[in-house]
Amino acid sequence: MKPKIVVLNGPNLNLLGQRQPEIYGRDTLADVEAKVRKLADEFGLDLDFRQSNHEGQLIDWIHEARTTAAALIINPGAYTHTSVAILDALKTCEFPILEVHISNVHQRESFRHHSYVSLVATGVMAGFGVHGYELALRHLARLIGAKG
Ligand code: DQA
Repeated sequence: MKPKIVVLNGPNLNLLGQRQPEIYGRDTLADVEAKVRKLADEFGLDLDFRQSNHEGQLIDWIHEARTTAAALIINPGAYTHTSVAILDALKTCEFPILEVHISNVHQRESFRHHSYVSLVATGVMAGFGVHGYELALRHLARLIGAKG
């Protein structure tokens, strides 16, 4: 069985490509998924790529990932800065977690400078645009020993 990488996307990321393109770019979330899937195929990894606008749904998916995933990539959107519940769910996971932000959150409003998720993330990508998802996957592939 191929190791599975779960990619979770939080609120408003369904509008990627339309939402503030000067910050988040023109690629849609489907474009991002296609690129990440191609790379996962090259590494012989299984990919489960999801998006929800609902905190509880993201938490349920993190719980599901505990038993199915080899590693997790998460862009929690604005929940990054607010959700102790997502942090607590991530604390129950034993695999590597990479936090991805399309924008450089440290260059933006001060409320975006704090991340609850960073307390448990193995690493954080911010400001690499949507390419950050592929960079995160490459790093995870190396961490879990997948052959590219
Ligand atoms: C984001 C940054 C967050 O501050 C914001 O709320 C998002 C997207 C990013 O990918 O840059 O929704 O996580």
